[in-house]
Amino acid sequence: VLRNHDLVFMKHFSMVIGALVGVTIILLAFASYMYSLMPVEANPAKEAKIAARIAPVGSVYAGSTGAAQIEMVKKAAAAEAASHVEFGGALDGQAIFTKICSACHNTGAQGAPKLEKAAWAARVAEGIPTLVQHATNGYKGPDGNQMPAKGNDPGLSDAQIEATVKWMVGQIK
Ligand code: HEC
Repeated sequence: VLRNHDLVFMKHFSMVIGALVGVTIILLAFASYMYSLMPVEANPAKEAKIAARIAPVGSVYAGSTGAAQIEMVKKAAAAEAASHVEFGGALDGQAIFTKICSACHNTGAQGAPKLEKAAWAARVAEGIPTLVQHATNGYKGPDGNQMPAKGNDPGLSDAQIEATVKWMVGQIK
């Protein structure tokens, strides 16, 4: 049998419990609100999967000529990577020529003039500064042949290009 003070106790006790439940609900609501404000973290594995799914199906086939050019550019890039360590800014025209310029200028690839008088007399007549400028910034000749800027090796300094051009001109036979 409940006595009177038991009823009073029960009433107060349920009020306290009710208040605690209320506080709990408010805290839960606040926490979930705070969570919704947090930026969603990117999942790299998921992003890689999406990138793989939306990647183009094929790649461009540039034909055998294009492939040879791509090969050449790749070689030049590799030479560039190596040259940063190898030359370390050294003004050794012969070494630079052998490593980078000879790919075209020894073989005549892409219409590059070999180190022969016939191919160079008119060029040398333009003067060394012009040749250096053309070798540094790139130059398209009248026949549409392209001397790439710094022989596709942006790692070469202007002084290195100048040293190499001077060495080349000295080698012309
Ligand atoms: C990818 C091939 C290629 C590479 C590598 C290359 N050249 Fe050339 N270079 C050419 C071609 C092609 C021409 C001829 C452009 C023309 O028709 O006059 C040329 C022309 C030149 C000329 C003459 C420019 C003129 O005004 O007549 C110089 C100087 C020269 N190259 C220097 C260099 C040097 C120095 C390097 C290395 C750092 C180098 N080249 C690497 C393709 C190349």
